[in-house]
Amino acid sequence: MSSENQQRALRPRRSCLAVPGSNPRFLEKAQGLAADQVFLDLEDACAPLAKPEARHTIVKFLNEGDWSGKTRVVRVNDWTTEWTYRDVVTVVEGAGAALDCVMLPKVQDAAQIQALDMLLTQIEKTVGLEVGRIGIEAQIENAKGLVNVDEIAAASPRMETIVFGPADFMASINMKSLVVGEQPPGYPADAYHYILMRILMAARTHDLQAIDGPYLQIRDVEGYRKVAQRAAALGFDGKWVLHPGQVEASNEVFAPSQEDYDHAEMILDAYAYCTSEAGGKKGSAMLGDEMIDEASRKMALVVSGKGRAAGMRRTTSFTPEEA
Ligand code: GLV
Ligand code: MG
Repeated sequence: MSSENQQRALRPRRSCLAVPGSNPRFLEKAQGLAADQVFLDLEDACAPLAKPEARHTIVKFLNEGDWSGKTRVVRVNDWTTEWTYRDVVTVVEGAGAALDCVMLPKVQDAAQIQALDMLLTQIEKTVGLEVGRIGIEAQIENAKGLVNVDEIAAASPRMETIVFGPADFMASINMKSLVVGEQPPGYPADAYHYILMRILMAARTHDLQAIDGPYLQIRDVEGYRKVAQRAAALGFDGKWVLHPGQVEASNEVFAPSQEDYDHAEMILDAYAYCTSEAGGKKGSAMLGDEMIDEASRKMALVVSGKGRAAGMRRTTSFTPEEA
């Protein structure tokens, strides 16, 4: 893993808040919400006639707003429209220093990522920004994108996340359901399992984060929680939130439980002790009734990394007698 990607992979993204770029009231309110990431949208939450003005509204809010503690992303329009280049040029020239990533929707192949990478590089050089700092988030929203997800994940060192776009995806494959993220009636298993796993494998192969998309029944927080848990259980890093009511649920679902976080930190301590000189340089050890080894350490690192990124504090401490 390159050090650049290593740094990118560490950004917390449990909750990724969608904010229409054309709505100053929402852009104002979003700054006070506890989402790990905000993305200011120029695509589907922004009507075609509102897009030109929204580009400038976004520039203003990125430069003048208080987004501290949040990853700042702008979603541009996809390359099949006439809007993409102006979205990127206006936003990055106007507010590139206040932007962490550009999200590209409906990505179909590596060339679309490379085209965005080249455009970003030109703008960075022109306006004197550090070349390569702005990352790319790629949305997978149709069959072609999913079939090409490996080459998309590998297309640029700017890549940070692969994002599942369930609404467009369901439409693109003719899934027989209108409720985004919910199971289509009549199918006896999980209709999303293959798609989510395919995205997750590509993301993990290239050290990227995997993010689940929106849940549109915004008043049904329990429904949101269930769908979020499905992605979190597989290993996804976070999910979109469309409404303040979904933020807390997402932050909770994608962080480890306190018990799992404490357990992970204990495994790391116990393993570090047992493999040390003082602990007898052992390759495996016991923590209570549990045998732990190098593979346990790797699993514990994932859980502790997510807990630390979420600002959790441990409530137990390790003593050598426990090992
Ligand atoms: C998000 O963009 C989706 O299509 O679900
Ligand atoms: Mg979409």
